[in-house]
Amino acid sequence: MLPADHARFPGVAIVLKNGQTVHLRPLTTADGEALADCYADIPPEHIRFYCPYPLDREHALRNASRADSPTEVVLVAETADRRIAGYAWYRWSDGAPASIFGICLRPAYQGQRLGRALMTRLLAIAREVGPRVMSLTVQLANTRAVKLYTSMGFTVVREQTRQPDPARGFAEEPEYYMELTLERTAEQELRAR
Ligand SMILES: CC(C)(COP(=O)(O)OP(=O)(O)OC[C@H]1O[C@@H](n2cnc3c(N)ncnc32)[C@H](O)[C@@H]1OP(=O)(O)O)[C@@H](O)C(=O)NCCC(=O)NCCS
Repeated sequence: MLPADHARFPGVAIVLKNGQTVHLRPLTTADGEALADCYADIPPEHIRFYCPYPLDREHALRNASRADSPTEVVLVAETADRRIAGYAWYRWSDGAPASIFGICLRPAYQGQRLGRALMTRLLAIAREVGPRVMSLTVQLANTRAVKLYTSMGFTVVREQTRQPDPARGFAEEPEYYMELTLERTAEQELRAR
């Protein structure tokens, strides 16, 4: 996310179902270690659903180093003690018609409507930054994520097969490819390019 866009979309405070307040803000280049700490908290049963890259320190540092990239937007949910409770992102290639979306929360922060809050904020940014279409894949077994995505306006384009990952013990399984076309005013469309 370009530094100028960081300023356009500053952090916002939200209250979770359990009453805790967290801040949703853009990832910065200083977040590498905090992101690594978040990755280390994701158990294998959730990595089965969220595995865009190995959730290790190396990838956390690499992802944070790209925080100012013009072709990705990453939001983190930061707790009062400055830990990253979870994050959501979309990224695209230059000129691509659609971006790819991803989200993952620490187990202790799931089921608190944090996923919905992160997505709501991310989609508000996506109305102004990046391609008009957002895409994702989600296993049918991930019923919570499917419910969240559907309620945020994503629709199923097709059912396909997620390839097995024997090294991590994950079998082949059915998944949806889903898309969302963002509503934009003419002004937002101009600004997004
Ligand atoms: C998937 C994930 C992002 C959802 O975020 P969350 O904050 O836990 O979810 P929310 O609290 O916003 O709940 C989303 C909806 O799912 C519903 N839900 C909860 N458990 C559910 C279940 N087992 N089956 C179906 N729906 C469920 C909730 O009621 C809520 O709907 P509502 O807001 O209308 O009440 C989060 O759980 C997560 O990070 N999971 C592990 C990684 C992952 O699966 N990432 C997505 C990969 S595609």
